Amino acid sequence: MAQIGTDKQAAKSFLEAGKVVGIPTETVYGLAANALSPDAVLTIFRVKQRPVFDPLIVHTHSLDKVPQFVTDIPEPARKLAEAFWPGPLTLLLPKRDLIPDLVTSGLPTVAVRIPGHPMTLDLLRSIDFPLAAPSANPFGYISPTTAQHVADQLGDQVPYILDGGPSSVGLESTIVGFEAGKPTVFRLGGMALDQLEAVIGPVDVRNHSTSNPKAPGMLSSHYAPRKSLILLAPGQSPQPGERVGALAFREPFGGINVNFQRILSPTGDLNEAAKNLFAHLRSLDAIDVDVIYAEPLPNQGLGWAMNDRLRRASTR
Ligand code: TXA
Ligand code: MG
Repeated sequence: MAQIGTDKQAAKSFLEAGKVVGIPTETVYGLAANALSPDAVLTIFRVKQRPVFDPLIVHTHSLDKVPQFVTDIPEPARKLAEAFWPGPLTLLLPKRDLIPDLVTSGLPTVAVRIPGHPMTLDLLRSIDFPLAAPSANPFGYISPTTAQHVADQLGDQVPYILDGGPSSVGLESTIVGFEAGKPTVFRLGGMALDQLEAVIGPVDVRNHSTSNPKAPGMLSSHYAPRKSLILLAPGQSPQPGERVGALAFREPFGGINVNFQRILSPTGDLNEAAKNLFAHLRSLDAIDVDVIYAEPLPNQGLGWAMNDRLRRASTR
Protein backbone atom coordinates (compact mmCIF):
# COMPACT_ATOMS: atom_id res chain seq x y z
CA MET A 1 0.00 0.00 0.00
CA ALA A 2 1.21 3.49 -0.81
CA GLN A 3 2.61 5.62 1.92
CA ILE A 4 1.05 9.11 2.02
CA GLY A 5 3.27 11.84 3.42
CA THR A 6 5.06 15.14 2.99
CA ASP A 7 8.61 13.75 2.70
CA LYS A 8 10.05 15.25 -0.49
CA GLN A 9 13.27 13.29 0.05
CA ALA A 10 11.33 10.02 -0.06
CA ALA A 11 9.53 11.10 -3.22
CA LYS A 12 12.85 12.08 -4.78
CA SER A 13 14.46 8.74 -3.94
CA PHE A 14 11.62 6.76 -5.50
CA LEU A 15 11.71 8.91 -8.64
CA GLU A 16 15.49 8.55 -8.95
CA ALA A 17 15.03 4.78 -8.70
CA GLY A 18 12.66 4.89 -11.71
CA LYS A 19 9.47 4.44 -9.69
CA VAL A 20 6.14 6.30 -10.01
CA VAL A 21 5.06 8.73 -7.29
CA GLY A 22 1.80 10.61 -6.70
CA ILE A 23 2.42 14.36 -6.73
CA PRO A 24 0.21 17.32 -5.81
CA THR A 25 -0.43 20.08 -8.31
CA GLU A 26 -2.77 23.03 -8.24
CA THR A 27 -4.91 21.44 -11.00
CA VAL A 28 -5.16 17.75 -10.04
CA TYR A 29 -2.80 15.13 -8.57
CA GLY A 30 -0.32 13.60 -11.03
CA LEU A 31 1.21 10.15 -11.39
CA ALA A 32 4.84 11.13 -11.93
CA ALA A 33 7.98 9.44 -13.21
CA ASN A 34 11.28 10.39 -14.84
CA ALA A 35 10.24 11.77 -18.25
CA LEU A 36 13.64 10.94 -19.74
CA SER A 37 13.49 7.23 -18.85
CA PRO A 38 11.31 5.13 -21.21
CA ASP A 39 11.15 2.35 -18.58
CA ALA A 40 9.87 4.72 -15.89
CA VAL A 41 7.38 6.24 -18.34
CA LEU A 42 6.14 2.79 -19.31
CA THR A 43 5.32 2.17 -15.66
CA ILE A 44 2.99 5.20 -15.72
CA PHE A 45 1.05 3.74 -18.65
CA ARG A 46 0.88 0.36 -16.95
CA VAL A 47 -0.29 1.64 -13.55
CA LYS A 48 -2.89 3.93 -15.12
CA GLN A 49 -3.96 1.29 -17.65
CA ARG A 50 -3.60 4.03 -20.21
CA PRO A 51 -3.22 3.27 -23.92
CA VAL A 52 0.22 4.27 -25.18
CA PHE A 53 -1.34 6.37 -27.97
CA ASP A 54 -2.33 8.96 -25.34
CA PRO A 55 0.68 11.26 -24.72
CA LEU A 56 1.85 12.64 -21.36
CA ILE A 57 2.62 16.13 -20.05
CA VAL A 58 6.23 16.92 -19.09
CA HIS A 59 6.57 19.00 -15.92
CA THR A 60 9.52 21.22 -15.07
CA HIS A 61 10.25 24.09 -12.66
CA SER A 62 11.62 26.91 -14.81
CA LEU A 63 11.11 28.43 -18.25
CA ASP A 64 14.93 28.39 -18.56
CA LYS A 65 14.79 24.57 -18.63
CA VAL A 66 12.27 24.36 -21.49
CA PRO A 67 14.77 24.86 -24.38
CA GLN A 68 16.39 21.57 -23.29
CA PHE A 69 13.17 19.78 -24.26
CA VAL A 70 11.88 21.77 -27.26
CA THR A 71 13.37 23.21 -30.45
CA ASP A 72 11.27 26.37 -30.55
CA ILE A 73 9.06 28.56 -28.34
CA PRO A 74 6.82 30.65 -30.63
CA GLU A 75 6.19 34.23 -29.49
CA PRO A 76 2.62 33.69 -28.22
CA ALA A 77 3.80 30.62 -26.28
CA ARG A 78 6.52 32.65 -24.62
CA LYS A 79 4.03 35.37 -23.69
CA LEU A 80 1.68 32.82 -22.15
CA ALA A 81 4.51 31.09 -20.28
CA GLU A 82 5.76 34.39 -18.87
CA ALA A 83 2.25 35.46 -17.86
CA PHE A 84 0.92 32.21 -16.38
CA TRP A 85 3.69 29.81 -15.34
CA PRO A 86 3.77 28.35 -12.78
CA GLY A 87 0.08 27.69 -13.41
CA PRO A 88 -2.75 25.61 -14.90
CA LEU A 89 -1.53 25.94 -18.48
CA THR A 90 0.13 23.36 -20.78
CA LEU A 91 1.89 24.34 -24.01
CA LEU A 92 2.43 22.01 -27.00
CA LEU A 93 5.89 22.70 -28.43
CA PRO A 94 8.13 20.95 -31.03
CA LYS A 95 10.07 18.27 -29.15
CA ARG A 96 13.78 17.53 -29.03
CA ASP A 97 15.08 13.95 -29.34
CA LEU A 98 15.89 13.99 -25.60
CA ILE A 99 12.16 13.47 -24.91
CA PRO A 100 11.36 9.78 -25.52
CA ASP A 101 8.79 9.07 -28.25
CA LEU A 102 6.81 7.10 -25.67
CA VAL A 103 6.09 10.35 -23.78
CA THR A 104 4.58 12.04 -26.86
CA SER A 105 3.06 8.88 -28.38
CA GLY A 106 5.22 9.51 -31.42
CA LEU A 107 3.89 13.05 -31.97
CA PRO A 108 6.39 15.74 -33.01
CA THR A 109 5.22 18.02 -30.17
CA VAL A 110 5.66 17.66 -26.42
CA ALA A 111 3.22 19.00 -23.83
CA VAL A 112 5.07 21.10 -21.22
CA ARG A 113 3.86 22.64 -17.97
CA ILE A 114 5.30 24.35 -14.90
CA PRO A 115 2.85 23.41 -12.13
CA GLY A 116 1.94 25.98 -9.48
CA HIS A 117 2.32 23.92 -6.32
CA PRO A 118 5.20 24.83 -3.97
CA MET A 119 5.87 21.25 -2.84
CA THR A 120 6.07 19.90 -6.37
CA LEU A 121 8.15 22.86 -7.56
CA ASP A 122 10.64 22.09 -4.74
CA LEU A 123 10.67 18.45 -5.76
CA LEU A 124 11.28 19.36 -9.43
CA ARG A 125 14.17 21.65 -8.41
CA SER A 126 15.75 18.85 -6.39
CA ILE A 127 15.95 16.33 -9.26
CA ASP A 128 17.87 16.63 -12.51
CA PHE A 129 15.15 15.34 -14.85
CA PRO A 130 11.65 16.55 -15.73
CA LEU A 131 8.59 14.58 -14.63
CA ALA A 132 6.09 13.02 -17.00
CA ALA A 133 2.74 12.99 -15.21
CA PRO A 134 -0.82 12.29 -16.28
CA SER A 135 -3.63 12.78 -13.81
CA ALA A 136 -3.33 10.06 -11.15
CA ASN A 137 -6.61 8.24 -11.87
CA PRO A 138 -7.29 4.97 -13.65
CA PHE A 139 -7.79 5.76 -17.35
CA GLY A 140 -11.28 7.15 -17.97
CA TYR A 141 -12.19 7.92 -14.33
CA ILE A 142 -12.52 11.28 -12.53
CA SER A 143 -9.19 13.03 -11.83
CA PRO A 144 -7.97 13.08 -8.19
CA THR A 145 -7.78 16.33 -6.24
CA THR A 146 -6.48 14.90 -2.94
CA ALA A 147 -3.75 12.43 -1.97
CA GLN A 148 -6.46 10.16 -0.57
CA HIS A 149 -8.21 10.02 -3.97
CA VAL A 150 -4.94 8.73 -5.45
CA ALA A 151 -4.51 6.17 -2.66
CA ASP A 152 -8.12 4.99 -3.02
CA GLN A 153 -7.60 3.93 -6.61
CA LEU A 154 -3.90 3.42 -7.26
CA GLY A 155 -2.58 2.93 -3.73
CA ASP A 156 -1.55 -0.66 -4.25
CA GLN A 157 0.60 0.23 -7.25
CA VAL A 158 2.32 3.42 -6.13
CA PRO A 159 4.98 3.35 -3.39
CA TYR A 160 4.59 6.98 -2.30
CA ILE A 161 2.05 9.81 -2.58
CA LEU A 162 3.27 13.28 -1.73
CA ASP A 163 0.45 15.04 0.13
CA GLY A 164 0.15 18.73 -0.72
CA GLY A 165 -3.44 19.16 0.42
CA PRO A 166 -6.48 19.57 -1.84
CA SER A 167 -5.74 20.96 -5.32
CA SER A 168 -6.53 24.67 -5.33
CA VAL A 169 -7.81 24.91 -8.93
CA GLY A 170 -9.41 21.48 -9.28
CA LEU A 171 -9.53 21.17 -13.09
CA GLU A 172 -6.80 19.82 -15.37
CA SER A 173 -4.63 22.39 -17.14
CA THR A 174 -5.76 24.24 -20.25
CA ILE A 175 -3.80 22.90 -23.25
CA VAL A 176 -2.67 25.33 -25.96
CA GLY A 177 -0.89 24.42 -29.20
CA PHE A 178 0.53 26.58 -31.98
CA GLU A 179 0.16 25.90 -35.68
CA ALA A 180 2.20 28.30 -37.76
CA GLY A 181 2.39 30.38 -34.58
CA LYS A 182 -1.44 30.55 -34.28
CA PRO A 183 -2.66 29.57 -30.80
CA THR A 184 -5.34 26.89 -30.50
CA VAL A 185 -6.88 25.51 -27.30
CA PHE A 186 -7.05 21.70 -27.40
CA ARG A 187 -8.40 21.20 -23.89
CA LEU A 188 -10.41 23.69 -21.84
CA GLY A 189 -9.13 23.63 -18.28
CA GLY A 190 -8.08 25.46 -15.14
CA MET A 191 -6.91 28.59 -16.95
CA ALA A 192 -9.93 30.49 -18.27
CA LEU A 193 -10.05 31.48 -21.95
CA ASP A 194 -10.57 35.18 -21.27
CA GLN A 195 -7.32 35.23 -19.27
CA LEU A 196 -5.41 33.70 -22.20
CA GLU A 197 -7.02 36.05 -24.67
CA ALA A 198 -6.14 39.07 -22.54
CA VAL A 199 -2.48 38.21 -23.15
CA ILE A 200 -2.36 36.93 -26.76
CA GLY A 201 -5.66 37.99 -28.33
CA PRO A 202 -8.30 35.67 -29.81
CA VAL A 203 -7.57 31.92 -29.74
CA ASP A 204 -9.24 29.07 -31.63
CA VAL A 205 -10.88 26.36 -29.52
CA ARG A 206 -10.84 22.82 -30.88
CA ASN A 207 -11.89 20.95 -27.79
CA HIS A 208 -14.72 18.57 -28.52
CA SER A 209 -13.82 16.13 -31.19
CA THR A 210 -13.64 12.52 -30.09
CA SER A 211 -11.05 11.78 -32.75
CA ASN A 212 -8.88 14.85 -32.33
CA PRO A 213 -5.50 13.87 -33.75
CA LYS A 214 -3.78 16.62 -31.76
CA ALA A 215 -5.04 15.38 -28.41
CA PRO A 216 -5.63 11.68 -28.89
CA GLY A 217 -6.46 11.21 -25.24
CA MET A 218 -9.46 13.46 -25.25
CA LEU A 219 -12.01 10.71 -25.65
CA SER A 220 -15.60 11.70 -24.99
CA SER A 221 -15.98 9.12 -22.22
CA HIS A 222 -13.30 10.73 -20.06
CA TYR A 223 -13.79 11.95 -16.49
CA ALA A 224 -16.76 9.63 -15.93
CA PRO A 225 -18.07 8.39 -12.58
CA ARG A 226 -19.39 4.82 -12.47
CA LYS A 227 -22.99 5.88 -11.81
CA SER A 228 -24.90 7.22 -14.74
CA LEU A 229 -24.69 10.99 -14.89
CA ILE A 230 -27.26 13.18 -16.59
CA LEU A 231 -26.32 16.74 -17.45
CA LEU A 232 -29.44 18.90 -17.14
CA ALA A 233 -30.29 21.68 -19.57
CA PRO A 234 -30.07 25.20 -18.08
CA GLY A 235 -33.11 25.75 -15.85
CA GLN A 236 -34.18 22.09 -16.01
CA SER A 237 -34.83 20.17 -12.75
CA PRO A 238 -34.00 16.54 -11.98
CA GLN A 239 -36.66 13.84 -12.09
CA PRO A 240 -37.41 13.31 -8.36
CA GLY A 241 -36.86 9.79 -7.06
CA GLU A 242 -35.54 7.70 -4.18
CA ARG A 243 -32.11 6.74 -5.38
CA VAL A 244 -31.39 10.01 -7.13
CA GLY A 245 -28.39 12.24 -6.47
CA ALA A 246 -27.67 15.75 -7.68
CA LEU A 247 -24.70 18.00 -8.21
CA ALA A 248 -26.01 21.55 -7.92
CA PHE A 249 -24.28 24.88 -8.44
CA ARG A 250 -25.57 27.18 -5.66
CA GLU A 251 -28.49 25.49 -3.90
CA PRO A 252 -30.06 22.05 -3.59
CA PHE A 253 -32.93 20.98 -5.85
CA GLY A 254 -36.41 20.42 -4.36
CA GLY A 255 -37.81 16.88 -4.34
CA ILE A 256 -34.44 15.15 -3.79
CA ASN A 257 -32.98 14.01 -0.48
CA VAL A 258 -30.48 16.72 0.51
CA ASN A 259 -28.07 14.03 1.75
CA PHE A 260 -27.83 12.88 -1.85
CA GLN A 261 -26.95 16.35 -3.13
CA ARG A 262 -23.65 18.23 -3.31
CA ILE A 263 -23.41 21.98 -3.73
CA LEU A 264 -20.48 23.34 -5.76
CA SER A 265 -20.51 26.90 -4.43
CA PRO A 266 -23.26 28.41 -2.25
CA THR A 267 -22.04 31.90 -3.16
CA GLY A 268 -21.97 31.15 -6.89
CA ASP A 269 -18.17 31.43 -7.19
CA LEU A 270 -17.01 29.50 -10.26
CA ASN A 271 -13.46 29.08 -8.93
CA GLU A 272 -14.79 27.53 -5.73
CA ALA A 273 -17.11 25.35 -7.83
CA ALA A 274 -14.16 24.11 -9.93
CA LYS A 275 -12.18 23.29 -6.81
CA ASN A 276 -15.07 21.15 -5.51
CA LEU A 277 -16.22 19.55 -8.78
CA PHE A 278 -14.25 16.28 -8.87
CA ALA A 279 -14.39 15.59 -5.12
CA HIS A 280 -18.18 16.08 -5.14
CA LEU A 281 -18.59 13.81 -8.17
CA ARG A 282 -16.52 11.15 -6.40
CA SER A 283 -18.60 11.39 -3.24
CA LEU A 284 -21.87 11.13 -5.21
CA ASP A 285 -20.41 8.13 -7.03
CA ALA A 286 -19.77 6.47 -3.65
CA ILE A 287 -23.26 6.83 -2.10
CA ASP A 288 -26.49 4.87 -2.52
CA VAL A 289 -27.87 6.45 -5.66
CA ASP A 290 -28.36 5.01 -9.15
CA VAL A 291 -28.28 8.24 -11.09
CA ILE A 292 -26.63 11.64 -10.65
CA TYR A 293 -28.17 14.78 -12.15
CA ALA A 294 -25.74 17.64 -12.74
CA GLU A 295 -26.71 21.27 -13.10
CA PRO A 296 -24.84 23.05 -15.91
CA LEU A 297 -22.62 25.97 -14.89
CA PRO A 298 -22.86 29.47 -16.36
CA ASN A 299 -20.76 29.73 -19.53
CA GLN A 300 -18.15 32.13 -18.21
CA GLY A 301 -14.71 31.83 -16.61
CA LEU A 302 -14.08 28.23 -15.50
CA GLY A 303 -17.75 27.39 -16.20
CA TRP A 304 -16.84 26.44 -19.79
CA ALA A 305 -14.31 23.83 -18.69
CA MET A 306 -16.63 22.46 -15.99
CA ASN A 307 -19.47 22.05 -18.49
CA ASP A 308 -17.01 20.29 -20.80
CA ARG A 309 -16.09 17.80 -18.06
CA LEU A 310 -19.74 17.21 -17.13
CA ARG A 311 -20.63 16.65 -20.79
CA ARG A 312 -17.84 14.09 -21.16
CA ALA A 313 -18.91 12.38 -17.93
CA SER A 314 -22.58 12.26 -18.87
CA THR A 315 -24.26 9.18 -20.18
CA ARG A 316 -26.76 11.22 -22.17
O1 TXA B 1 -3.38 19.59 -15.06
C1 TXA B 1 -2.88 18.71 -15.75
O2 TXA B 1 -2.64 18.87 -16.94
C2 TXA B 1 -2.56 17.37 -15.05
C3 TXA B 1 -1.47 17.62 -14.02
C4 TXA B 1 -1.00 16.36 -13.36
O3 TXA B 1 -0.40 18.31 -14.61
N1 TXA B 1 -2.18 16.41 -16.00
C5 TXA B 1 -3.06 15.87 -16.89
O4 TXA B 1 -2.51 14.89 -17.69
O5 TXA B 1 -4.23 16.20 -16.96
P1 TXA B 1 -3.38 13.87 -18.53
O6 TXA B 1 -2.38 12.92 -19.09
O7 TXA B 1 -4.46 13.33 -17.72
O8 TXA B 1 -3.93 14.74 -19.72
C6 TXA B 1 -3.01 15.24 -20.67
C7 TXA B 1 -3.68 15.49 -21.97
C8 TXA B 1 -4.12 14.21 -22.66
O9 TXA B 1 -5.46 14.38 -23.11
C9 TXA B 1 -3.17 14.11 -23.85
O10 TXA B 1 -3.80 13.54 -24.96
C10 TXA B 1 -2.79 15.56 -24.08
O11 TXA B 1 -2.71 16.10 -22.81
N2 TXA B 1 -1.46 15.66 -24.71
C11 TXA B 1 -0.27 15.36 -24.17
N3 TXA B 1 0.73 15.55 -25.06
C12 TXA B 1 0.15 15.99 -26.18
C13 TXA B 1 0.65 16.36 -27.47
N4 TXA B 1 1.94 16.33 -27.77
N5 TXA B 1 -0.24 16.77 -28.39
C14 TXA B 1 -1.57 16.82 -28.09
N6 TXA B 1 -2.10 16.49 -26.90
C15 TXA B 1 -1.25 16.08 -25.96
MG1 MG C 1 -6.25 12.68 -17.21
